[in-house]
Parts: sequence; C-alpha cells; structure tokens
Amino acid sequence: MADNDKTYAPSAEMAAGAHADRATYEAMYAASVADPDAFWGEHGKRLDWMTPYTKVKNTSFAPGNIDIKWFEDGSLNVAANCIDRHLATRGTQTAIIWEPDDPEAGAQHITYQQLHAHVSKFANVLKEMGVGKGDRVVIYLPMIPQAAYAMLACARIGAIHSVVFAGFSADALAARVNGSEAKVVITADEAPRGGRNTPLKVNADKAFEKVTVDSKMLVVKRTGGDIAMTAGRDVWLHEMEETVSADCPPEEMNAEDPLFILYTSGSTGQPKGVVHTTGGYLVYASMTHQYTFDYHDGDVFWCTADVGWVTGHSYIVYGPLANGATTLMFEGVPTYPDAGRFWQVCEEHKVNQFYTAPTAIRALMGKGNAFVEKYDLSALKVLGTVGEPINPEAWNWYNDVVGGGNVPIVDTWWQTETGGHLLTPLPGATPTKPGSATLPFFGVKPVVLEPETGKEITTTEAEGVLAIADSWPSQMRTIWGDHDRFEMTYFSQYKDMFFSGDGCRRDADGYYWITGRVDDVINVSGHRMGTAEVESALVAHTAVNEAAVVGYPHDIKGQGIYAYVSLMAGQDPSEELRKELSDWVRAEIGPIAKPDLIQFAPGLPKTRSGKIMRRILRKIAENDYGALGDTSTLAEPEVVDDLIANRMNKG
Ligand code: WT7
Repeated sequence: MADNDKTYAPSAEMAAGAHADRATYEAMYAASVADPDAFWGEHGKRLDWMTPYTKVKNTSFAPGNIDIKWFEDGSLNVAANCIDRHLATRGTQTAIIWEPDDPEAGAQHITYQQLHAHVSKFANVLKEMGVGKGDRVVIYLPMIPQAAYAMLACARIGAIHSVVFAGFSADALAARVNGSEAKVVITADEAPRGGRNTPLKVNADKAFEKVTVDSKMLVVKRTGGDIAMTAGRDVWLHEMEETVSADCPPEEMNAEDPLFILYTSGSTGQPKGVVHTTGGYLVYASMTHQYTFDYHDGDVFWCTADVGWVTGHSYIVYGPLANGATTLMFEGVPTYPDAGRFWQVCEEHKVNQFYTAPTAIRALMGKGNAFVEKYDLSALKVLGTVGEPINPEAWNWYNDVVGGGNVPIVDTWWQTETGGHLLTPLPGATPTKPGSATLPFFGVKPVVLEPETGKEITTTEAEGVLAIADSWPSQMRTIWGDHDRFEMTYFSQYKDMFFSGDGCRRDADGYYWITGRVDDVINVSGHRMGTAEVESALVAHTAVNEAAVVGYPHDIKGQGIYAYVSLMAGQDPSEELRKELSDWVRAEIGPIAKPDLIQFAPGLPKTRSGKIMRRILRKIAENDYGALGDTSTLAEPEVVDDLIANRMNKG
C-alpha cells in the first residue's frame, strides 16, 4: 500500500487551546514509557483517593504468572469520584443530558446534585434487595438515565455490574446471569427505539426460565406498557425507592477490586467475561476522555454508543463523569424519525465533541448531505470514530460534510479488553491521515509482530499483528472465573506481551493502520461476533448437521455474516428454512448475530484430518474464489466446486 495519504494537521488555534500540542504529547509520551511508575504515580492523582497509593505499577506478563496490579494499596470509590467530589463546585451543572427516542418528548437535564440523589437511592434499593460488596448485578436496560444510575449505584456499594446489551436475546441474558451468579437483574418494562418498543421484561422473564441461580428482578418503568410481575421475585424500582433512605455513603474499595464484568465474543467458545477493576480503569478512562477529545470544562460531550458496550461504559458514564463533564445519552437510533436525527441533537444541545462508529457514518452518508446541512453544527470541536477501520470515503465525508473541513477527527483504536483508547490522535497534537488510528496514547507500547514467528518487527515500516509490550492502567485483569483462559487467549500465542487479535501496518511516519481481526472474530457494524458462537447457535437447530461461519465485506456493516450450512439427511434446502435459520440465530443470540447470507452446502471443505478449511470459505464468501490457494490437502476437493457454483455473494 502506498503512503500517498493526505495529512490533516491540527490548526494553530486548536493546538494553542488544547490540553496537549505536539511538543506536549511527545514529551508526555516519552516520559510515560521511560518511567511508568513516575508518570502514572503523578496522573493517578487526578482521582480522589480514600487511601492514597504508595505503589503504582506491579504487572507481570510472564508465562504462568499473568498478574496485573495498578495502585494496589490505594482505596477509592468510583461513584464518589464521578459524583460526590463534583458537588461543591458543580452541583447545579448538568451531568447527564438524556435525549429520548421520541424527539417530541423533550430532553431531560440531570444535574450532579440530582445524579447524587438518584444514585444514592438506587444503591440503597440494591442493598435492600440483599446486594453487598463483591456481589454481581446484571443490568439489562435501554439507554435511559437509570442505566447510568444502576452502574453508579453498583459502584457506590462495591457490587460488580455486568451490563447486557438490551439487543441480546433471552438465552444470551440467561447465560450471563448464570455465568456471573447475579443476585439481581435490573430491567425495564419496554425499550423504545426507532419508534418501536422492545418487550424487555418479556425477554427477561423468558431468560429466567433458564436462570439457575437465585436471582431477583428490579424493574424500571419506562413506557408503562403492560407486563407481568412475578410475586416474590420481581419488584418495581419506583416502589422500592419510596421505602429507602436518600443517604448512602460510598463503600471504600481497593484499587484492584472488580468494578465490572463485560461479556465479549472471542474466537472460540462462548463469550468471555472481561473483568475491569477500580483504580487503574478510572484513571485511564478519565484521562483518555480528557485528552483524546480535548474535553474542557463546560463542553457538552456525546458518545452515541450503547451502555451495553465498553464504549458506553468508558465514554458515556465513567470517563466523562469522573471529569465532571456534561455527557449526553441518546435512547434512539440515527435514522428515526429521519437521517438528520444525530445532527438535530447536536444542534439542539450544542454538542462540542461527537463520538460515533463508521457503520453509522456510512449509513448516514448514503442518505445525502441535506440531512446534515439543515442543522447548525458550529459548536462541534472534535469528531471521534471507533469500532472498526474507517474507510477513507467515510472519513472524508465525516470531515467535509459533518465537520465542514475544520473539525479534527480522532480515530480511536481500542477493545473491550483495553478499557480505554490505546491508539489515537490527540486533536491539538497529531496530524491525522484518513483511516489511521495514528499513534499510541500515553503509556502504551505497541509492537508489530511477524504472525508466524512472533518476532518483533523493529523497522519503522512494518506489517504484521499488533501486540502491546507492557501493561497500561485500564488493561483487563482476568476473565471472570477463568484466569487460565485469560492467559491462553491473550498471552500464549506470543510470549510476554498482550496480543490484540488485530492485524496492523506501521507506515514510514510510525503511524498505525489497523487492518482488521486476524482470528475467527468478525466485526459487524462495529460489534464483535465470534464465528464459533453463530455456528453453535446454527447446529443447535434440528435441521442442521454442520455449520461454518465467516465474514465478508458489507457496504454499511463493514462485515456481514456468511453462514455455510449442511443439513441433516432428509432435510431439504428451501427459502423457508433459510428464513427459519436466520430467525433462529436471532432468537438464540440477538439481532446483531443474524446471518446476512446462508448457503446450503452438501459438504464443507475439510482437511483429511477433518478440520474445516475456513480460508477457502472466506475466499468464496468474499467472491474471490479465483485465489483459493492450495486445495490439494482437501479430503474431497469437489465440494469446493459446488460451493462456488452456489455462492450467495455474487458480488
Ligand atoms: C475490536 C474491538 C472498543 C470500542 C468498540 C469495539 C476493532 C475498534 C477500531 C478502530 C480499527 C477498530 C478492532 C478491535 N476496532 N476500534 N478505531 N480502527 N479497528 O470494542 O467489541 O471489544 O472490539 O474492534 O478489531 O480488536 P470490541
């Protein structure tokens, strides 16, 4: 790939007013990797500690001893840092602007004082339901303020939350409730989105048929829709709140006590519970929020993600609130009531920093510029993107049409596992190139490895897989209940470093370009999906004998889901069955896992030892079957001809 890319340098005005200009970034970065203890020892002070730490970094990536601790003898409370400490100086400032699905319904402004009152009550309700320090609470809520209250209420009493995206199915919810042995599941009657209501409580009831642990349900009234309450198990939040005190002192937590579990898909097996802890996570989430978006006091920050994903955890709730910011929370979708909704909200609330995903940008780009040009976007200072590599066309449209050519774009590369941004430009410091996540954040040491040997490529220009050579404060600490799997997944393929699962290229300027996953994970609309998960849902259907799932390029979603299915003897392929299987996967996992294309195949290409040759399936799905490579090791080479003849993506 040639580096003929155009570079966009920060304006002098941006650099002058920013938290970091080029020289500051370079000096801080150099200091952060030269002496992490000194650097993070200093920046850890951005939080209020109950017991100040005396130790900063104590981390090991050594085989058999993966052990990550930051600020280990310090204690603090996350909710106190996100709320209480702001009360004296900004009690009447808006903490959360909530924009409901229906634009006619009007926004809510929740001040820091009000946030304090809501969270304290919510925390006492949880206590009343028997939740204590270290207990797990599952949060299955729409994008309503109560989702943030619930997270902060858990943090306040030292309970560990596990947010489950409201788009996940009953089965997926049940697996997460059981996996974390949650004492309480918080849900709502219904979730309005795009003018339609998802029956959330009905889903939760269905999930509870498969919940095997002793768990209660706490229900938020969102729409007032008709739902059933199970006596002895389900209670209403608003009723419980009437019975509890408004005073709830924050629990003192060790820096390494878990803050949350968040399930994410991997290349094998069922989703894993990524564990983040208290001190390091909050230091890093708040610092990245401040520097990456160049957030200043009084700004209005909007991250369009859902709180069900890590982006919502770090950049709707924890990072912004730790910084005393005004954070916008949006219940709706980008295209309802029309494709101007994002820009209407930006105008209405004078949004200063706007953070979204390439899939949303591509979808809106297709609707035409008029939807953007109708609105006054002059308050915008920074535009962010996250979730997948952004194609230059989408980057240019974001830059030219949304930003009017003078708003810097930050393309932030990170993962559920990393807790916060690892590669990102800083708006006042880093010249950007469309499609590159540019340079590492403070304290981050990216390395490019030869995929086969694991040898580090030390030349500036490099192409291989991306790993991180040393720990940073918000690194995940373990997989819930399975520390061995943690080591296996991230530290075994390449020793002594954290393996990201992404491929990448480093150009002559030392800029990083993420090329996508190199494992069996696909990225659908910026959401991670394990092919193994979709396969296991498919084979659970009685008509299916075998299934193999791969990704293929999709104009809007980035990648689509392509499933090869071979049927049980006596089952006939039909359009009806194709639809049934699609709906089945949707019901088993959720709408994001629904295959885009299903190809019925009499057989799947296998090696003589029975291993499915995914490389071939990927090529056929990409409509690139001229380049199948060596097929001589196949047990039955002729199955490939049938796969090609009947391929679903004819390009
Ligand atoms: C995977 C992580 C953490 C935010 C949301 C997704 C891909 C994420 C970028 C980017 C290229 C990106 C990677 C990564 N990804 N951001 N800016 N450029 N790729 O979190 O579900 O944990 O997925 O998303 O492939 O490994 P996630």
